[in-house]
Amino acid sequence: MADDSLPQGAKLTARDAAFRDDPDAVYDRLRQHAPLYRDEAYGRRVLTRFDDARHVLRSHDFGVDARKSLPESYMRRVAGTGVQEGAGATAYEPPLVLLDDPAHRRIRLLMSKAFTPKAVEAMRPRIHAITRELLAALSGAGEIDFIEAYAGPLPTRVIAEMMGVPASDCADLKRWSDAILMGYDPEREPAVQARLRESYLAMSAMFKDALAARRRAPREDLISAMVRAQKDSDRLSDLEIISLCTQLLVAGNVTTTDLMGNGLYALLKHPAELARLRADLSLMPRAVDEILRYDCPLTETARIALTDTMVSGCPIAKGETLTVALAAANHDPALFAEPHRFSLDRDASAQLGFATGPHVCLGAPLARMEGEIGLQAFIEQFPDLSLAATPPRRRALPFFRGFERLPLRLN
Ligand code: HEM
Repeated sequence: MADDSLPQGAKLTARDAAFRDDPDAVYDRLRQHAPLYRDEAYGRRVLTRFDDARHVLRSHDFGVDARKSLPESYMRRVAGTGVQEGAGATAYEPPLVLLDDPAHRRIRLLMSKAFTPKAVEAMRPRIHAITRELLAALSGAGEIDFIEAYAGPLPTRVIAEMMGVPASDCADLKRWSDAILMGYDPEREPAVQARLRESYLAMSAMFKDALAARRRAPREDLISAMVRAQKDSDRLSDLEIISLCTQLLVAGNVTTTDLMGNGLYALLKHPAELARLRADLSLMPRAVDEILRYDCPLTETARIALTDTMVSGCPIAKGETLTVALAAANHDPALFAEPHRFSLDRDASAQLGFATGPHVCLGAPLARMEGEIGLQAFIEQFPDLSLAATPPRRRALPFFRGFERLPLRLN
């Protein structure tokens, strides 16, 4: 468990360029020499083996509520949006992903009544229509930034539509959700924090108004469904609905953008696999699993030990933060042969890109559908697609791995 198991000078954060450029090299070394690495710099242990990751994500010995972690833990630094301070106690409710039972079970159950498979399936024709619209806007373009022009706007448009928010509000929603995302960077600067707080309050205000409007005149959308769930059981507070709406945007937006960005990049770097996919589009669901495994958009999540416990024979003290490196688990050779090879031959369905256990991604079916439809439509539209001469740029934000910019030549 010695500190020298980390490559010299490397820090386990996407803020570090060496780690950002080649996380696999760091994770491989940790998995081999210190699979429960004690990361003193950030007050946590980092788990890199598939079996350990799956165990911790499914075990009741671990929770997500930062208030149960040791002082100075990584979890506390990440979870603090700073919105609570000075904004009044009613302005902030922790997102679902940071709540333990019983609140988590209650809210997740109510949320799944609104976010039903039927509601998701109903979005299929709309996702096709939105991709067509975005593609039409690219007609005649030579070079584009895939993130700005396509992978960024698509998920925002989709979730906004599900919520019944007009397309004209999407630019605001996207800007706010990008700013709120910075709450996952424990080393964020004060100016970033200020923007985050402002954005959270602005987005909450928009959803508060939408909630009041749906209560007066219900419609066929997600916010109305949440209001109905509230009425049926009277156990979902207004603040909880607002927090859920915010989380759907923040958690669902950038991750789906990155599924498409990381996926298209992997395909362009592996032209034989791209050619196979073009020739047989029924491989699309398999390709999405392989993308989620090979370069997963949410690289890490965290858990807190709720009791003194053990992981792989190693004692873990109550209150310790464990970072579960999903990206490392997805490259564990114990489960995936030749893990650093991108291949559509592989059955990658065991990948942990959506996690597992009680907090498994609620939006996974929607994200898969957007990824499949969005990527397929794009590669069909542009048969001569290639990377542009301007190099792509990765985002320097912990957890959320994706491209800030992915320049493409369309023909
Ligand atoms: C490719 C896209 C996506 C990826 C990779 C992804 C990944 C994840 C992961 C790994 C978790 C679990 C975190 C943990 O266990 O700590 C999660 C939770 C969650 N995701 Fe996603 N997600 C994606 C898209 C979406 C979408 C589109 C939505 C909704 C619109 C969404 C909503 C949520 C919610 C509400 C949770 C919290 C669930 C809970 O705590 O019970 N996600 N996501």
